[in-house]
Amino acid sequence: MSIPPEGRDPSDVLAELEGLRGQDAPVHGGRVLAYVYDAGVEGLSAAGRAALASFGEVNALDPTVFPSVGRLENDLVGWGLNLLGGPEGSCGVVTSGGTESCILAVLTARQDWRRRGGQGRPVVVMPVTAHPAFAKAAHLLDMDLRVVPVDPEGMRVLPRDIEAALDEAGPAAALVIVSSPAYAHGVVDPVREVAALAAARGVACHSDACIGGLVLPYLRREGREIPDFDLSVPGVRSLSVDLHKYGYASKGTSLLLYSDTEYRLGSYFTYSTWPGYPVVNTTLQSTKSAGPMAAAWTVSQVLGDSGYARAVGRAIRATDRIVEAVAAIPGLRVLGSPDSTLIALAADGDEGAGGVDPFTLADRMRHRGWFIQPQPGIAGLPRNVHLTVQPSSADTVDQFVLDLATAADECRLLPWAAADPELAAAAASLDPDTLDEAAVAGLLEFAGLAGGGTPGLPEDSAGIQALLESLPAPLRDRLLAGFFSMLFSAAR
Ligand SMILES: Cc1ncc(COP(=O)(O)O)c(C=O)c1O
Repeated sequence: MSIPPEGRDPSDVLAELEGLRGQDAPVHGGRVLAYVYDAGVEGLSAAGRAALASFGEVNALDPTVFPSVGRLENDLVGWGLNLLGGPEGSCGVVTSGGTESCILAVLTARQDWRRRGGQGRPVVVMPVTAHPAFAKAAHLLDMDLRVVPVDPEGMRVLPRDIEAALDEAGPAAALVIVSSPAYAHGVVDPVREVAALAAARGVACHSDACIGGLVLPYLRREGREIPDFDLSVPGVRSLSVDLHKYGYASKGTSLLLYSDTEYRLGSYFTYSTWPGYPVVNTTLQSTKSAGPMAAAWTVSQVLGDSGYARAVGRAIRATDRIVEAVAAIPGLRVLGSPDSTLIALAADGDEGAGGVDPFTLADRMRHRGWFIQPQPGIAGLPRNVHLTVQPSSADTVDQFVLDLATAADECRLLPWAAADPELAAAAASLDPDTLDEAAVAGLLEFAGLAGGGTPGLPEDSAGIQALLESLPAPLRDRLLAGFFSMLFSAAR
């Protein structure tokens, strides 16, 4: 039963909740190299959690009733603008996460395009490595998407390819996206060149620094060469930077920064012609918790500028150590040349020629207590594993590289993960639009993702990763949606 007939003792309930947490991957300790960002600073996360709890019930919808919200938001936005080249008159907003920042950035550009007389369906141009949040935004906002390939050596988009896409879109082009850096390979796009091409055509450019915005400025301060990417670049009209990533705050906060307040107005929504309170929304949410913002504010105050600099220093030294170690591991290589603390590892050599299969490597590392994230070979780029290196990785990196080398040794002797050829052939003939729930469930069961008990990923997932990689994208998407639909079947 999902709710008891009579209320329970709070301490029992909380104990049960803690038990559930025990099944999750750990969010601290450096063993999980995706999704989590551990600063490794004693007491930091506890301070953030205390703020989260204390402000959880404050409604950030209305800063006139809860003025603390205005103070917290203005401090956070001001910090972001100072760090990320905000010119005179620039501004921002606190959102619930990277995806909300990306959606609002696209909305703002669409509104600006319309205000300037744009007609019909506007177009968003983006590299294939841009985060899917922008595809989601185009889907929600009824815009067309032009996806541009990236250079398969450097993993960054070439300005001439963006130029061609912009010219093809003509007056329908409303926004160009660049990543600073892109999640998958940690490489920064040529922001200055792309923003100039966009500006010359009157098109806005968004720099997606969701994952790098609180890392790159500190790397530059350390004297590392960092390409220009922030709001000081002419033509960059907006920039996203997530506080719940390398800001080390609890999940639920990001900043969206804008070049000017008039442009920002495009993302505001007001409605005062109903008989209730006049609605003014600066984000997609209306009623929203001030908890995540208070947590982010607290973490930023506890760390301070020097704390962030130290954290980035620890993360980048761990990154360097991994890159250096990989160079000495036969059959494995780093993709591109990472600009920040994200690394993608691919095979150096084919199957049977000493290449290490990244999917099998992820499984082998899991056996040793590490989570590294499989990424499929898509768009002409090779299959690989992603590592989000964190400050806490500095404490675990020696063991990590030892385990990586041993796991790679094992993988070199093993066949690469491959899709069952019969299933792949049968699947290729299916039309995802006409598949019903039962057929999807059958396929998922065949793939080992469902059937019997609770649906979930098996301990070794290389075979499933290979199968998904081999499928046509619409079928893959249908199966993934079906899998999540099974995971979320209500407990009545
Ligand atoms: C570059 C980039 N943009 C956007 C996002 C989306 O952020 P979120 O998962 O917070 O919605 C991510 C997430 O990893 C990202 O790395």
